[in-house]
Amino acid sequence: MLNADVLSPEALSHLGTQRVGRHVLLFDLLDSTNNEIRRRSIDTVENGLAVIADGQTGGRGRRGRNFLSPAGKGLYLSVLLQPCCAPHELSMLTAWAAVALCDALERVCGVRPGIKWPNDLVLNGQKLCGVLTELELEAETGLPRYVILGVGVNVHQTETDFGPEVADIAISLRQALGAAPGRTELAAEILRALDAMDQAFPQARTHYLERYRQACLTLGKPVTVLRAAGTRHGTAVGIDETFALLVRWENGETEAVSAGEVSVRGLYGYT
Ligand code: BTN
Repeated sequence: MLNADVLSPEALSHLGTQRVGRHVLLFDLLDSTNNEIRRRSIDTVENGLAVIADGQTGGRGRRGRNFLSPAGKGLYLSVLLQPCCAPHELSMLTAWAAVALCDALERVCGVRPGIKWPNDLVLNGQKLCGVLTELELEAETGLPRYVILGVGVNVHQTETDFGPEVADIAISLRQALGAAPGRTELAAEILRALDAMDQAFPQARTHYLERYRQACLTLGKPVTVLRAAGTRHGTAVGIDETFALLVRWENGETEAVSAGEVSVRGLYGYT
């Protein structure tokens, strides 16, 4: 491929981070970078380990969706974290990660994406980046053993690189900015930002919460909340201290939504 954006192991071997990305493994092809971390963690848990693949054959998104991951096009990266916090605080990590990713993208590209609650990064009203957070619990105690944070950034994709089900809602850095940064530089900055987040979690909550609220594009928008119990309509009116979405229902009551799918009308062409 002409002008291929090759991931460079040398450039990712001395990031100067405290924990995240001190050890980076690069692969040409994996089923999923999240799966690779899980396989390696069966015996030994290596806090901060990062796995990056040029392409994935079984990339996974939230709620069992596929995450199409053509080689050379996107950045597919996972890190293993063992945050020191109470189990109930872990649910905030995915929102913190969205803030960290905004920091990294702004540093590399000069534009700060918005966040569609809870953790999609959005540019020009379309999805630029998704986060899949998976948790491994200890069977005996029920306590978290580790967290795998998987990040997929659309970098060089053109319309035909996205599957038909996301082509209308997805955007790459190349499409949004006319040119894309190298994936190595982007990966390095993301690992640095996730390391800063890891150091700050959970004590710097106010700082991350403020920035999450500033970036959250869902606020003020009509939302549809899809749950097993049924679908409800309302308006997103705030983000509470636990990063849950505050929704005012049509009957005037307000509820904090932290689980269930929230579809936001007006973003990504949802109606
Ligand atoms: C989503 O938008 O639903 C989340 C997408 C997360 C995709 C990333 S790519 C790297 C890591 N490996 C996976 O299989 N998924 C995540």
